[in-house]
Amino acid sequence: MATDVHGPVTTTGSSASAAVRVAGLSRTFDGRRVIDGLELTVRPGEFVALLGRSGCGKSTLLKILAGLDRDIDGTVFVPRRKATAFQAPRLMPWKKVWRNVLLGLPDKPERAVAERALEEVGLSHRADAWPKTLSGGEAQRASLARALVREPDLLLLDEPFGALDALTRIKAQRLVGELWQRRGCAVLLVTHDVEEAVLLADRVLVMDDGVIAHEAEIDLPRPRDIADPRFARIRAGLLDRLGVDATAEAA
Ligand SMILES: Nc1ncnc2c1ncn2[C@@H]1O[C@H](COP(=O)(O)OP(=O)(O)O)[C@@H](O)[C@H]1O
Ligand SMILES: [Mg+2]
Repeated sequence: MATDVHGPVTTTGSSASAAVRVAGLSRTFDGRRVIDGLELTVRPGEFVALLGRSGCGKSTLLKILAGLDRDIDGTVFVPRRKATAFQAPRLMPWKKVWRNVLLGLPDKPERAVAERALEEVGLSHRADAWPKTLSGGEAQRASLARALVREPDLLLLDEPFGALDALTRIKAQRLVGELWQRRGCAVLLVTHDVEEAVLLADRVLVMDDGVIAHEAEIDLPRPRDIADPRFARIRAGLLDRLGVDATAEAA
């Protein structure tokens, strides 16, 4: 796996055993340390979910991993092949869906490349549509197709289902679970939904005070059943870590 290294601290040695390796990462905005000595390792093919209260720095971390923010201290190893999907699908309104999927790729790939990715997310029938005619769920699937054509070793998802209605959200979660199992790439999913995190992830992280403050391995078999008492126990533990009273939330 080719690796990108950024950050002023140069670390030698192989990171082949990890898809992501972050050491001593800090990011400061206007004198305020949003990320403060963060350590993180993600194994190749591992699905990691990242929880944390609003404003704790999740999107900041994801942007750094995506290479969109290099104003950092510390060291970041990520695969060269990585792709990102955000909450807002960010499609170019003047380009048809299939052209959006190929946007920014080198060597002008042919339409068939976009069609294969659209097929994978169940959207091939909308290849010639204009973005403004897509439903929220379709736009999010187009955004996923755009990530998939990059054949990422690391897929970075920032609350990708946050704007979807409940039913569409469940379908989109299932799709991401399937894509991950088929592709075998590492995934880092930022979400505010504890249930979504426990449904999908191998490991759930909680970010607080600029670091990964807590982590839980989710060793439940897949597909996961939210009615499983073990599921409820893990969920309650994470809600507790997030400072949410689980009994009050269920009421
Ligand atoms: N470009 C920026 N300039 C100044 N402050 C920022 C910038 N980006 C993020 N922040 C601040 O950093 C903190 C973390 O933001 P963010 O990573 O978006 O949080 P989260 O995604 O966890 O909700 C917030 O207080 C936010 O206002
Ligand atoms: Mg965010």
